[in-house]
Amino acid sequence: MPAMRVLITGGAGFIGSHLVETGRQAGWEIWVVDDLSRGSRSNLPDGIPLITIDIRDPALEELMIDFRPAVIHHLAAQVDVAASVADPWHDASVNLLGTLRVLRAALRSGVRRVVLASSAAVYGEPERLPVAEGHPLRPLSPYGLSKAAAEAYARWFGAYYGLEVVILRYGNVYGPRQPAVGEAGVIARFLAALADGERPVIHGDGRQVRDFIYVGDVAAAHLQATARGAGGIYNIGTGRAISIRGLYRLMQRVTGVEGEPTHGPPRPGDIRRMVLDIRRAQAELGWAPRVGLREGLAETWRWMAGRRQGPG
Ligand SMILES: NC(=O)c1ccc[n+]([C@@H]2O[C@H](COP(=O)([O-])OP(=O)(O)OC[C@H]3O[C@@H](n4cnc5c(N)ncnc54)[C@H](O)[C@@H]3O)[C@@H](O)[C@H]2O)c1
Repeated sequence: MPAMRVLITGGAGFIGSHLVETGRQAGWEIWVVDDLSRGSRSNLPDGIPLITIDIRDPALEELMIDFRPAVIHHLAAQVDVAASVADPWHDASVNLLGTLRVLRAALRSGVRRVVLASSAAVYGEPERLPVAEGHPLRPLSPYGLSKAAAEAYARWFGAYYGLEVVILRYGNVYGPRQPAVGEAGVIARFLAALADGERPVIHGDGRQVRDFIYVGDVAAAHLQATARGAGGIYNIGTGRAISIRGLYRLMQRVTGVEGEPTHGPPRPGDIRRMVLDIRRAQAELGWAPRVGLREGLAETWRWMAGRRQGPG
């Protein structure tokens, strides 16, 4: 049987590059589309074609007609919540119009299925925990709004044109290759600070609660969503809560680095408490998180240490 052709947008980024690895092991023939605004070619294994264009570019449609993928995993996005508050226009342009371009290209090139990377940010502040997929969508940031709008458009393409759409709403993703610059994930920022002998900055009082999911587990969810769950929306997290202070203490135990964090002002658009109900993904995608937080932190710390030592 010929290998399944899969296009991964944002494949040179943090989560996308892990999906490239997972897909390669599954025998996919992969093309990556990424404008390298945040991602990097060095995140990709050798031999994976990288097409460096913006997903909003009409050329995406011709490119996909050439490649004719069976499935698209769409991860390219403006991912920075604070940047979305500062410039909602740019955020909507990439996350909404960019997704529309991907959906249109999917239709024109005969793609069977689109798996969309979405976020728990679409829920806003939860009414109750854990948050199930039926919870109302009341995003607190333009980023959450653009992700919710992109989901709604994708579902419309599914209903109207029969495109198979699967939506994955991730919790806070962490792991190797997450950049510690800009408004990076809190785990990448804290570990980088600990490695540099600096005091990590906690935004707000540190009592915020999050659901941290290891990047390899997110890639595994995409793998399952390639064949299962047509038309579904799935939370991808662990279902376990930890406060930012609790996270910091756990990191100290894992890394052996002592010291107190400092506190900065809360960030605009931040959610106070988020824990995802993942039972639907377990039942319908046949997926479950495998890597616990302690193990995932140790893995990420090892990666960071190796990187700081350099290749030779
Ligand atoms: N990291 C998280 O905790 C998290 C949580 C929820 C959802 N997500 C979603 O997961 C996806 C991947 O995020 P990530 O954390 O790997 O971030 P990332 O920035 O590492 O990856 C995004 C990739 O998309 C590329 N990109 C951005 N704009 C583009 C454009 N206009 N055209 C082509 N490529 C473009 C970037 O260069 C980058 O490589 C995003 O859709 C994000 O919204 C991430």
